[in-house]
Amino acid sequence: MAVLHDIRAAIAAVLAAENGTSSGPADYITAAHSAVDALVGRNDPAFDARSPDPGDARGALGQLNDLLDHEATPPFVPALHGVQINLLAAVASLQDALKARSLDGFQENASDALENLEIAQGRSSQYDVLGGIAGAIANTRLGVPDDARIADGCAAPHRPGFGVSHGWLAWRAVKRGHTPVATGGYASVKMENDMMILYTTAAPMVQQHCTRHADAKAAAAPALIKAAVPAATTPLYTTAQAARGKAVYAANCASCHGTNLQGVAAPAIAGSAFLKTATTNKYTVSILDTIVTQNMPFNNPASLKPGQYADVMAYLLASNCYPAGKMAFPSDPKPGFGTAIVGVQAHPAGTPDAKGVCPVK
Ligand code: HEC
Repeated sequence: MAVLHDIRAAIAAVLAAENGTSSGPADYITAAHSAVDALVGRNDPAFDARSPDPGDARGALGQLNDLLDHEATPPFVPALHGVQINLLAAVASLQDALKARSLDGFQENASDALENLEIAQGRSSQYDVLGGIAGAIANTRLGVPDDARIADGCAAPHRPGFGVSHGWLAWRAVKRGHTPVATGGYASVKMENDMMILYTTAAPMVQQHCTRHADAKAAAAPALIKAAVPAATTPLYTTAQAARGKAVYAANCASCHGTNLQGVAAPAIAGSAFLKTATTNKYTVSILDTIVTQNMPFNNPASLKPGQYADVMAYLLASNCYPAGKMAFPSDPKPGFGTAIVGVQAHPAGTPDAKGVCPVK
């Protein structure tokens, strides 16, 4: 909430700067400094003590870092990384704006900053998904009041409360006639018994996770009996698939994640740093697959063919030094597939480079 507050303060300051043309450069420069202040916080070198600070002492980025340090829960970490990237871009544009020699140059950079701030704040897109910090709050248990009644998000709502699973908020059930507080992010509404059920945009994904989880549990029970199987990494894809995936990656992912998978506008998705985050956040291969198939490419989610997604997943695993085998990465994973947590391979398949990425031919 503090992050959202700081971002809103920065947006207000940039708007003031853009509209401040009549009162001369001094005013809009002060306003732009204020926006930077709201984003970076008092301890950052970019903070300008002479301008008013509409945010709090830590600034949006400081608050965000705190969240990323403490809330190592898969659902909101990727969203928070997205917010972070956009805030950093906004600060960079604002600093360019302050260096601009003309009013036009100033406004151009300020508009760029505003664009990044709006994305960081979150807005509904053509896919009806709220992104940014507002989306993260609305779709995760961050959006559940402290004293609220919480139910299992995998189960159907039986009485008023919030349905949460793995940190995601799937639904909110309220008594019919009761007006819910508008937190946004609800994708659909259903009337059932005497309740109104509001499903969040995260609901379909939660549902999918629940199904896989339940099936995996059922499959795991007999597996315990033959527990003598060593915990070595089972090959999850073929070499040919990874090679095809390399082309899919170059065409659909490299613009944001970089040709070397180290990130440009988006986080790194291969190598030691990524694998460490993945392990900390308990990303399983299956969670990674869900992120990729449902949210990527970020600017056009779920737009690739199932086979292309499987190929690009193979390429991701290969780049992260996972061993190849005889079985292809499935485009329709069966229950129990990919339940191991993603991490650094004890016996990397290939020679990792300095960043821990294995080259794929
Ligand atoms: C338009 C830019 C863009 C494109 C194109 C894109 N991504 Fe992403 N990707 C992002 C951003 C931004 C994030 C951070 C997630 C968030 O904020 O929700 C991300 C996150 C991810 C993550 C999760 C990383 C983590 O640390 O949680 C994976 C894996 C991923 N992308 C894979 C892919 C793959 C594979 C493709 C191509 C099919 C792709 N991305 C295309 C922008 C992009």
